[in-house]
Amino acid sequence: MNVIQLPKKVRIVEVGPRDGLQNERAKIPTKIKTAFVNKLIEAGLTDIEVSSFVHPKAIPQLADATELFEALVQPGGVCFSALVPNERGLDRALAAGINRIAVFTAASDKFTQQNINMSIEESLATFSPLIAQAVDRGITVRAYLSTCFVCPFEGEIPTDRVACLTRKLLEMGADEVAISDTIGAASPKDILATVGEVLDHAPVEKIALHLHDTYGTALANVFAGMQLGIQTFDASAGGLGGCPFAPGAAGNLATEDLIYFLHRMGVSVDVDMDLVLDAADIIAKSLDRPPRSKQWLRQRGCIIHPMGASNHE
Ligand code: COA
Ligand code: ZN
Repeated sequence: MNVIQLPKKVRIVEVGPRDGLQNERAKIPTKIKTAFVNKLIEAGLTDIEVSSFVHPKAIPQLADATELFEALVQPGGVCFSALVPNERGLDRALAAGINRIAVFTAASDKFTQQNINMSIEESLATFSPLIAQAVDRGITVRAYLSTCFVCPFEGEIPTDRVACLTRKLLEMGADEVAISDTIGAASPKDILATVGEVLDHAPVEKIALHLHDTYGTALANVFAGMQLGIQTFDASAGGLGGCPFAPGAAGNLATEDLIYFLHRMGVSVDVDMDLVLDAADIIAKSLDRPPRSKQWLRQRGCIIHPMGASNHE
């Protein structure tokens, strides 16, 4: 029998406050966001994408980024980050005193056009000096590569395009590229093909997987990613999320479902599940809608017992 090779430990990048909240219609008050982020810290999450310094009209839900960073204290051992689309965004991020930013492009021209009003080439031309400037100032840079598998406007994405763009982003000075399944369409076969090709050209420790769970394939995709040696996965408490520029995108893989899966697989992750559920509760209360995760349903919602009786826990 073959023994499956899995990493001993996995790092979770919590993207709920940014990717999650940017897709909620309701604008969550800064005070509630502050409580949410503080609960995520208490849960043991060490990498938290807190907000975006994008155009406030593009994403009004995150227009309070500056106020939110003012209200938060970054404890030792925790890394806050924020999305930055251009120089204006970098200036705002520097003023907020953060030391990690995330830039974002895509493997589809039509998607980058919709999202940031640029072609892929234009976005690379914007990000190249931006990344250099950030690195010069001691700020580390993550790069998102959206729509790496299927684009809502262009369809299937060629694997060699993803590998080539990943290499370019790393050469520009990003220390990590998040290979993103923006609309949650990928299957494990796609992960093995695309991420497999990426890893022919990039070191595994610089690659993260950013998965949405539209068709329920996200955890299977984590498994495929771990078999390739990937050790960094994005997730969002309560399964919040989506992308306002990607029709049909559902929420991110829920942090609590990922934690359960990793525990069962014997992979170490130092995050407290109950406190992540408490964090999800904070946003659920504000949105007046229950989180979408299996763990939340299992532990807080209505469950059906095996013998047929239903109960509330
Ligand atoms: N923060 C605040 N204001 C900004 C800004 C930023 N990061 N970038 C540009 N602006 C302002 C400019 O100052 C300018 O203002 P003015 O009209 O008063 O002079 C105006 O916006 C237009 O600037 P321009 O460079 O032409 O930007 P644009 O209209 O082409 O928009 C982006 C480009 C990238 C800023 C915008 O599309 C954006 O923020 N997109 C974010 C998308 C996103 O977050 N998607 C989800 C992530 S997957
Ligand atoms: Zn996303």
